[in-house]
Amino acid sequence: MKIGTPLSPSATRVMLLGSGELGKEVIIALQRLGVEVIAVDRYPNAPGHQLAHRAHVINMADGAALRALVELERPHLVVPEIEAIATDMLAVIEQDGLAEVIPTARAAQLTMNREGIRRLAAEKLGLPTSRYAFSDSLDEMRDAIEKSIGYPCIVKPVMSSSGKGQSTVNGPEDVEKAWNYAMSGGRVSHGKVIVEEMIQFDYEITLLTVRAVGASGAVETCFCEPIGHVQVKGDYVESWQPQAMSPTALKRAQEIAGAVTGDLGGRGIFGVEFFVRGDQVWFSEVSPRPHDTGLVTLCSQRLSEFELHARAILGLPVDVSLRGPGASAVIYGGLEEKGIAFEGVEQALAVPQSDLRLFGKPESFTRRRMGVALANGADVDEARSRAKLAASKVRPVKE
Ligand SMILES: Nc1ncnc2c1ncn2[C@@H]1O[C@H](COP(=O)(O)OP(=O)(O)OP(=O)(O)O)[C@@H](O)[C@H]1O
Ligand SMILES: [Mg+2]
Repeated sequence: MKIGTPLSPSATRVMLLGSGELGKEVIIALQRLGVEVIAVDRYPNAPGHQLAHRAHVINMADGAALRALVELERPHLVVPEIEAIATDMLAVIEQDGLAEVIPTARAAQLTMNREGIRRLAAEKLGLPTSRYAFSDSLDEMRDAIEKSIGYPCIVKPVMSSSGKGQSTVNGPEDVEKAWNYAMSGGRVSHGKVIVEEMIQFDYEITLLTVRAVGASGAVETCFCEPIGHVQVKGDYVESWQPQAMSPTALKRAQEIAGAVTGDLGGRGIFGVEFFVRGDQVWFSEVSPRPHDTGLVTLCSQRLSEFELHARAILGLPVDVSLRGPGASAVIYGGLEEKGIAFEGVEQALAVPQSDLRLFGKPESFTRRRMGVALANGADVDEARSRAKLAASKVRPVKE
């Protein structure tokens, strides 16, 4: 393992596919380790573009464009930050030895489509999940709900994230609306949905799981403390660490996360999502990359999930220890406008043990995540109140 000098022939080059707020933090972590970083996104001046060594704008779902860029830049590592990528081309890039794909091209392929990862977890690995069915048409979906899933249930496009196109079906009257909503909200109009039994959970967690080279020289699996979070309309609004769990539930979650990430393979951090009720644990989904709810680790862990990812992908040792209880609260745009400004930053940072990340996104939408407030406290409750208070002080305004 060697790290070269950026912008010289010896440079260690990493290409980020997706350069939003999570990619931006990974880039910062990589640059602190002297890595040369190439940031890619579908629009100019994305958060990570603003600090990488080089920035490119391409349609990452276009396989030919993706390959051409990899051939131009010759990165050692290609690191997906988003799901909507031509993952088949990632597999070719990996196969041809053009670059190493993090964690593996297969992990990116399986997790970009809910069908791939659900069938892997439930059918191949036999792990507990909600009951589910896949449907290609409204009639098939209605049939699946009536005959096997039942009400209430959740309908999601197989290709979507952040709750897009996702809705709850409480009875027969909601079925058609949910189908139409899914068809309009998917990433690429993909004509297919997953219907899931609604799990009545006590709480839900993200278990950040790291696959990194350990003292033995082989890849080992480590678990961060569980992160609790609250979702509104399928999008995270608040997270905290550690989430208290029964020892049995924690052990089960770790076993499941170990099994899923072990199958996906490679090195890096994974956000494994679970629903928990008492000692019972259901696997929901996994991101083979830093997770949005893990933004809290910027204040709660000795190494954030972004630093852990950077170290793991470079083949360096990791340390998943907690620094102290912490929380994050999302700051939404609240308006549809380019080049907004933020008021109240000084009031926000006057909250004890608080911090802010303003992502620098060039355009605001009402429900676009534009920043996040972070806070520590004597316990999770205090950290949560502080993070929410700090977030509430920040006001996006029209310049
Ligand atoms: N089967 C289910 N039972 C109960 N709640 C669910 C179920 N599926 C999803 N949810 C709720 O909706 C949220 C979003 O679902 P999911 O994680 O599948 O969607 P997503 O669009 O991939 O979201 P993200 O990309 O933000 O993780 C979950 O975190 C949970 O709060
Ligand atoms: Mg999710």
